[in-house]
Amino acid sequence: MNTIKVTATQGDIAAIDADVLIVGHLSDGGKRLGGAIDTLNTALDGEIQEAIDSQELTGKYGATTVIRTRGRIPARHVIVVGEGSKKDLTPERVRQAMGSAIKAAMALQAEHVATAAIGAGTGKQDVSAVAQAVVEATLLATYTFDGWKKKPEEPKKIVKALTVAEIDKTAYKKVETAVELGRVYAQAALFTRDLVNEVPSEMSPGALKEAAEGIAKSSKGVTIKVLNRAQAKKLGMNAFLAVASGSTTEPYFLHLTYTPPKPSKKEVVLVGKGITFDSGGLSLKPSDGMITMKADMGGAATVLGVFSELDALEPAVTVHGVIATCENMPSGSAYRPGDVVRAMNGTSIEVLNTDAEGRVTMADSLSYASKLEPNAIIDLATLTGACVVALGEEIAGVMTDDDRLAKRVDDAASATGEPFWRLPLFAGYDKLIDSKIADVQNIGSSRWGGALTAGLFLKRFVEPSIPWMHLDIAGPAFAERGYLSYVPYGGTGSGVRTLMEVLRTWR
Ligand code: BES
Ligand code: MN
Ligand code: ZN
Repeated sequence: MNTIKVTATQGDIAAIDADVLIVGHLSDGGKRLGGAIDTLNTALDGEIQEAIDSQELTGKYGATTVIRTRGRIPARHVIVVGEGSKKDLTPERVRQAMGSAIKAAMALQAEHVATAAIGAGTGKQDVSAVAQAVVEATLLATYTFDGWKKKPEEPKKIVKALTVAEIDKTAYKKVETAVELGRVYAQAALFTRDLVNEVPSEMSPGALKEAAEGIAKSSKGVTIKVLNRAQAKKLGMNAFLAVASGSTTEPYFLHLTYTPPKPSKKEVVLVGKGITFDSGGLSLKPSDGMITMKADMGGAATVLGVFSELDALEPAVTVHGVIATCENMPSGSAYRPGDVVRAMNGTSIEVLNTDAEGRVTMADSLSYASKLEPNAIIDLATLTGACVVALGEEIAGVMTDDDRLAKRVDDAASATGEPFWRLPLFAGYDKLIDSKIADVQNIGSSRWGGALTAGLFLKRFVEPSIPWMHLDIAGPAFAERGYLSYVPYGGTGSGVRTLMEVLRTWR
């Protein structure tokens, strides 16, 4: 991962000695230029205005125009990115436009990029929201995972520094805070991407455990408790250990705790599905279905991404991270279709399909989380292909009976621009997971509504008095093709920024 130095500065963007300056332009902002682009236009002898008048520069959403500055200002190039129509503009649209502009800057081999709170002037966007968005877009769009390549891709992506300029003194105070927040949010998401992208033979349960231990070691506020197989067994985690039993890799149960500097009575538990490779087990997947299954620890990676930046975020709540991590493999020691296993909360599970393994491991992590008696539990899991069928690759499914918790996440998601959509925990489908011989079965007796029966299965392991939310991130956790300017192929870190926002605003 390439680390970019991010700074805010008070002053005129035209004066910054960067390789590339990035400014925005609306398609319908009116004749007169406003804000940063106006001062640049003056410094460039009206060249930007000329490009607009000749309709070379239209403000078309996401389009980029490169202007060579030829010594008139310290920067070598100016990139004007189209913000599209004013009425459609949102911080998320700014984030995506900035992602396109950064790619154009990378093509120019820019090392130092400077920009402004794009959309805050004529675009009427909240200055903090767009300042945060441009920083996030820069960090997210420049991400590469190329450690396995002999030669990294050309042209070499070498953005090393980003400066966000704001000329107005009162706005600058906001920009300064927002820039730091953007850096922290994006850095957390990049941490998640690295974990998800690493190949499955390397990113074993042991490696995930070491990543978690590394966070605890380098964070003031974070401690960790690790349970090995024998210790998990003692606590009655038979469901988790049944899934782990087919693999030669050692499973681990991880419990991280973040304590804020001013101790808080409010506690939130984040639970992440941590299957480092999902072959399906004895209910083996077809080979095509296995190709992206290194990403089946995406929930765990999301939790760890959040934890990696909690010291910097300093939320006013105690945060727990709970992860049961193992591999789902077929072998002579694997759990079998037809087996019944008893989870930590005493509920017996009939395993009808060993490929519905995530929920079986989470039966124990949710039982464990309930014992912590927190104010809320939020779980994240690449749980079902059915959720991807329902919502596609970009949208996470939300299941909860708690409308207050739903609103928290909904509000946070509107701020971060990440798409979530609520699905029902329809009580009428609960009968579909009633087992003939045990308390519950791990797949629905109907082939339809698989995301919902998975959610209802998880519900059986959460103490009913605790507000709980299940996020099915099977679609958005891994991008089989880059679908946004700032989301390249591979692990996305989707959900990380929204969880950070939920925790930051928790009162
Ligand atoms: N990890 C998969 C779900 C998944 C599928 C995530 C596609 C990302 C992309 C999960 O363990 C699984 O295999 N679920 C099964 C459940 C079925 C056996 C009831 C599925 O969705 O097919
Ligand atoms: Mn599976
Ligand atoms: Zn799985």
